[in-house]
Amino acid sequence: MNILETAIEAARAAGQEILRRLPQERDVRSKGFRDIVTDADLAAQETLTAIIRSRFPHHGILSEEGLVPSSDADTIWVLDPLDGTTNYARRLPCFSVSIAVTRGNDLVTGVVYDPSRDHVFCAERGAGATLNGKQLRVSEVDDLGQAAAGLDFAREPAVRSSLVATMVVCSERIRTLRSFGSAALGLCYVAAGWLDAYFHFSLAPWDVAGGALIIMEADGTITETNGKPWSYTQPRCLATNGKLHSAFLDLMRM
Ligand code: IPD
Ligand code: CA
Ligand code: CA
Repeated sequence: MNILETAIEAARAAGQEILRRLPQERDVRSKGFRDIVTDADLAAQETLTAIIRSRFPHHGILSEEGLVPSSDADTIWVLDPLDGTTNYARRLPCFSVSIAVTRGNDLVTGVVYDPSRDHVFCAERGAGATLNGKQLRVSEVDDLGQAAAGLDFAREPAVRSSLVATMVVCSERIRTLRSFGSAALGLCYVAAGWLDAYFHFSLAPWDVAGGALIIMEADGTITETNGKPWSYTQPRCLATNGKLHSAFLDLMRM
C-alpha cells in the first residue's frame, strides 16, 4: 500500500472509531484556554498511528495530542485525529480527521475525512484533488459581492477580536460568512467550490496542512493573510478560488 492508500485507510478507521463513540458517555478534559480533548481524540490518534507505523515505521509523526517526530525523519505525517472537538463534545455532527504527509517543507499528500457524511477529500502533489474519487475544482465566482467565505475562531482573545473586525469588513462587502467549527472541512469546502474563500488567524500545522494541499490541487490559492507566501507552520492563512484572492487580501488589510 502506498502513502495515499494508507492515509485514506487510516482516516476512515479513525473516523469510524470517532463515530462509534459519539453516542456514548464521553470523557472531556480541559487542556488549555478554550481547548478540550475527549476520549475520541485520543482513540482516533491511536488508530491512525497504529496503521501508519505498521506500514511506514521509519516515518515521523507530528500529531496534536502530544506526538512529535524525531529530528532525523525526512517524511513526516501531520495528524489532527479529530478536528472539531468542540462540535464533537456537543454531539454537533461537523468534525473530521485530517492527515498530511510532508517532505522537507513540501506537502505531498493530504486527506480529510468527514465520517458523518462519508466524505473523503484527498490530494497528491501534482495529481489533483478529489472528493470520493470525483475531481475537485474551486468555484468560478469572481464578483466579491457574490462571495461566500468560511472562517473559524481563534481561541486567544486579542486574535479573536481582530478576526471579528475582519468579519465586520467582510460582512459589509460579500454575500455571506460561514463558520463550521472544523478548519480542515472549511478548507475542503473551498476546494469543492462550496465556499469561495476561507480565512483563519490562528491555526496549528495539523489543522491546516491536509486541507491546504487539497485546495492547492483543486487550483485554489493560499497565502498568509498579508499576501506573503504561506507554509503549513504559519498560523494565519487566506485560501480562495484564486479569482477573488486579491479582493480578499484587500479586505484582510482593512
Ligand atoms: C480547532 C478547529 C476550529 C478552529 C480552531 C482549531 P480542534 O481544532 O479546527 O475550527 O477554529 O482554531 O483549533 O481543536 O477541534 O482540533
Ligand atoms: Ca484542529
Ligand atoms: Ca484536534
